Amino acid sequence: MKAVLIDENTKNLYIGQTTEPVCGENELIVRVRATSLNRADLLQREGKYPPPKGESTILGLEMAGVVEQVGEQVTEWKIGDRVFALLPGGGYAEKVAIPGKMAMRIPDNVSFTEAAAIPEAFLTAYLNLVTLGEIKEKEYVLIHAGASGVGTAAIQLAREMGATTIVTAGSKEKLDYCLSLGADFAINYKDGDFSGKVIEITENHGVDLILDFIGASFWQYNVNSVSIDGRWVLIGMLGGHEVSHVNIGAFLAKRIKYMGSTLRTRTPEYKIELTQAFQQFALDKLEEGKIKPVIDKVYNWTEVEEAHRRMMENRNIGKLVLEID
Ligand SMILES: NC(=O)c1ccc[n+]([C@@H]2O[C@H](COP(=O)([O-])OP(=O)(O)OC[C@H]3O[C@@H](n4cnc5c(N)ncnc54)[C@H](OP(=O)(O)O)[C@@H]3O)[C@@H](O)[C@H]2O)c1
Repeated sequence: MKAVLIDENTKNLYIGQTTEPVCGENELIVRVRATSLNRADLLQREGKYPPPKGESTILGLEMAGVVEQVGEQVTEWKIGDRVFALLPGGGYAEKVAIPGKMAMRIPDNVSFTEAAAIPEAFLTAYLNLVTLGEIKEKEYVLIHAGASGVGTAAIQLAREMGATTIVTAGSKEKLDYCLSLGADFAINYKDGDFSGKVIEITENHGVDLILDFIGASFWQYNVNSVSIDGRWVLIGMLGGHEVSHVNIGAFLAKRIKYMGSTLRTRTPEYKIELTQAFQQFALDKLEEGKIKPVIDKVYNWTEVEEAHRRMMENRNIGKLVLEID
């Protein structure tokens, strides 16, 4: 089959031939119609984020497509079904093998292109806001990188949960988009310390939950922004991973719960449970258009380099999708 491969010397991407996945007894082979980019793809390509042991080395953490083969033990799917799923890797290819229990049904009114933009962003947002973050109605939630793929999903989930959301992003265009998606307040982090504004917006309460993609460069502002008994989930380090002069006093005084999380390295069992919880919460809402993937741009997979460049330059609002012929 064809797949996007990485030239080991130049790190350039090209479409080449590779071996087809084999269908295990609990698995499906899916003919991939679309996949999406994730920040992790940029790192993996540079050799900085290897796939979990034993998983496909092909890029691509999500896909939407048509079931082409069904493993002997799989009872819930048949050939021809339209499915989408999270992947540990392998999405930038014509075919992928997935556990039958990881597949989600694509609602009739949702296209392959739209469905491919959902799993990684929405499951990451769901895991960190709901499962780990324990988001509650009327709480204040601070979502950084609000216009990112994950950020645009998180804004919608927080809105559906009845929380008040404050987002940060780096341009007026991105902030306006976040507000149009349902964010309640939007702050340009390029103006500097955002914590004063957070404290003002929350009338001195602080935020109950922080979804932190940034890490080091926002460290002190986040410490200042979080409320007493606040939860703070670190899921990215776009602003660096080393913080100097950490004063842990605030963590004790405010009783802060600080958590780190990755989705890709979790066990298949964990991901299946998460997928099923997410489906229960979200499939009807997707069908009714209450939540939707935000798609910045759609490319044919022959234009994969251009799509990667757009993400690298931080130009996307929402997801970049690759359609696979
Ligand atoms: N731990 C997990 O399980 C998990 C899963 C999925 C994704 N992630 C992480 O979530 C983050 C978002 O992923 P994505 O694929 O949705 O990203 P994306 O669509 O590429 O968006 C990332 C955005 O972050 C902002 N940004 C970049 N560098 C920044 C900096 N130094 N300070 C502040 N903002 C910065 C940029 O927007 P502005 O123009 O606003 O600066 C950029 O467009 C990534 O860090 C990714 O690794 C983690």
